[in-house]
Amino acid sequence: MLNKIEKLKEEILQVAASSMEEVEQLRIKYLSKKGSISALMADFRNVPAEHKKEVGQKVNELKSLAQEKIAALKESFALNADKELEEVDLTRSASPIELGTRHPLSLVKNEMLRIFEGMGFTIAEGPEIEDDWHVFESLNFAPDHPARDMQDTFFISRNPADILLRTHTSSVQTRVMEKNQPPIRIVCPGRVYRNEAISARAHCFFHQVEGLYIDKNVSFADLKQVLLGFARQMFGPETKIRLRPSYFPFTEPSAEMDISCDICGGKGCAFCKGTGWVEILGCGMVDPNVLKACGIDPEIYSGYAFGMGIERITNLKYKVKDLRMFSENDVRFLREFEAAN
Ligand code: PHE
Repeated sequence: MLNKIEKLKEEILQVAASSMEEVEQLRIKYLSKKGSISALMADFRNVPAEHKKEVGQKVNELKSLAQEKIAALKESFALNADKELEEVDLTRSASPIELGTRHPLSLVKNEMLRIFEGMGFTIAEGPEIEDDWHVFESLNFAPDHPARDMQDTFFISRNPADILLRTHTSSVQTRVMEKNQPPIRIVCPGRVYRNEAISARAHCFFHQVEGLYIDKNVSFADLKQVLLGFARQMFGPETKIRLRPSYFPFTEPSAEMDISCDICGGKGCAFCKGTGWVEILGCGMVDPNVLKACGIDPEIYSGYAFGMGIERITNLKYKVKDLRMFSENDVRFLREFEAAN
């Protein structure tokens, strides 16, 4: 009896199968009612009482071994079967490719650029990582101007030169003026960075479109007309504009421009805080110091510049209340602009 058990054990340790059917045959051979292990159990009756304990233990061990072996074989085939299915099922319908839509900021940027291109502006772009000269110094920022302060600017390195993330795309204007003589008529779209706490109304990065026109005899009236043309194409032909005196180091005189509130039509509402006007941009006549710094003779040429945030224009156009929505990539928000694509 012990011999038989030993032989069967060796046999079972060696078994292999090449298909699920073969595994099933092995199960019948060893573990079914007519299988060899059941036969051993039947013989157990004849084992003398003093050996029963030892033999019984061995038979049980053998049975567990056979069960484990067969279960393992079964599992390996089940896994392979899954794999095969994956590899060969060519009839499964393909999952549809999800088409994305343009981001609202891109939509509005493209629209803004199209309007300015229609007025003769060309597009100029520049680096987001800049130096102090292009972002501040060339633009007539005094060395102790608060906008250079760590509060607003992300500095990357102080040494040897100040390397920083641009805080406005006016740096691109400097780059273009350094390399070209007037007439210059450009718009500069791009991302800018400021060290602000993130909230519904402020973010540490946003996007701008800035414009620059330098030529002989450029006047403030030219600036006003271009901005009026822009506002009417962007927000509708009834839109009114108003210019308020302001200050920027690189323009003199400087102004901020409001448009009549799109939501209440100028009557006054919560959005325009009851004033009927909303601010959309800063602008002014390029300061002669800036022209000089960039190698353009202010005795011969003059020019204007303006700059606005794309987020602000998009908020007005699509009534987006929270700035953070633009960078969260929530597809439910992005899908709302499908129709505008
Ligand atoms: N650069 C200014 C800003 O980022 C905007 C501006 C551009 C103002 C040109 C006047 C002229 O706020």
